Amino acid sequence: MGNVSKVVKSAIDAGITFFDTSPMYGEAERVLGLTLKGQRNSVQIATKVWADSALQGLAQSKRSLFYFEGRIELYQIHNLLNWREHLEMIERLRDKGKVIAIGATHYSCHSFLELRQVMESGRISVIQIPYNIEQREVEKHILPLATDMGLGVVIMRPFGGGNHLRNCPSESLLTPLAPFGVKTWPQALLKWILSDGRCHTAIPATSKSQHVFENAAAGNPPWFGEQERNYVLRLAGKM
Ligand SMILES: NC(=O)c1ccc[n+]([C@@H]2O[C@H](COP(=O)([O-])OP(=O)(O)OC[C@H]3O[C@@H](n4cnc5c(N)ncnc54)[C@H](OP(=O)(O)O)[C@@H]3O)[C@@H](O)[C@H]2O)c1
Repeated sequence: MGNVSKVVKSAIDAGITFFDTSPMYGEAERVLGLTLKGQRNSVQIATKVWADSALQGLAQSKRSLFYFEGRIELYQIHNLLNWREHLEMIERLRDKGKVIAIGATHYSCHSFLELRQVMESGRISVIQIPYNIEQREVEKHILPLATDMGLGVVIMRPFGGGNHLRNCPSESLLTPLAPFGVKTWPQALLKWILSDGRCHTAIPATSKSQHVFENAAAGNPPWFGEQERNYVLRLAGKM
């Protein structure tokens, strides 16, 4: 079994049902689709359109639908690229039942004003945004607006792309978080995010099965209160 199959199998065994991908990530969509053969109905696929023109976007959507057996649970506009044109195409796919929910992503706080416009258009039901112990810009306007509008919130880059895992606090410093099921620093960082009730799922990337199990365990309650969230920030030197 190749590494992708192993990691995806581990994810499903660990109870993970949500997989995020994009045509921007090389062969990822094709390989994920192949790996999920026979299990497609047990998972939700979040993919994206990432194209300069409507024509390219349409071609991309055909490929994505082929890889994922004719259905995309969450179809997102990647980094808001050409969003007006792509939104129309995705709405048509939703009306045909091929797309279940429509979303938009951006990794940069410099584009949050534009993201707010898309949210306020009322045409999307999910956003994917960066949120972690360092990147907290979404707390100001994006998360409150998402809550007001009842939007689903997917959190990308929960470990800051891995940067927040370079200097992990010692095991003994994590002891106060043990009652919350937290044994490791990555779990503390994930639980810090998911304990904010405005965030509905986090999508840590990993190439390792043991990390999949470790990360998945942080998706269960009990959730941190303000005291534990502040404790994590202090451990990370962010408070
Ligand atoms: N504009 C957009 O739409 C956009 C932009 C950026 C990201 N995203 C999405 O967000 C996802 C995550 O973002 P990301 O990959 O940038 O950053 P991330 O999830 O914050 O960090 C990934 C890094 O953390 C490491 N890691 C994961 N679990 C670990 C664990 N338990 N212990 C130690 N190391 C661990 C991984 O290494 P190992 O492989 O060694 O585990 C990898 O190097 C992406 O895959 C993508 O789906 C979307």
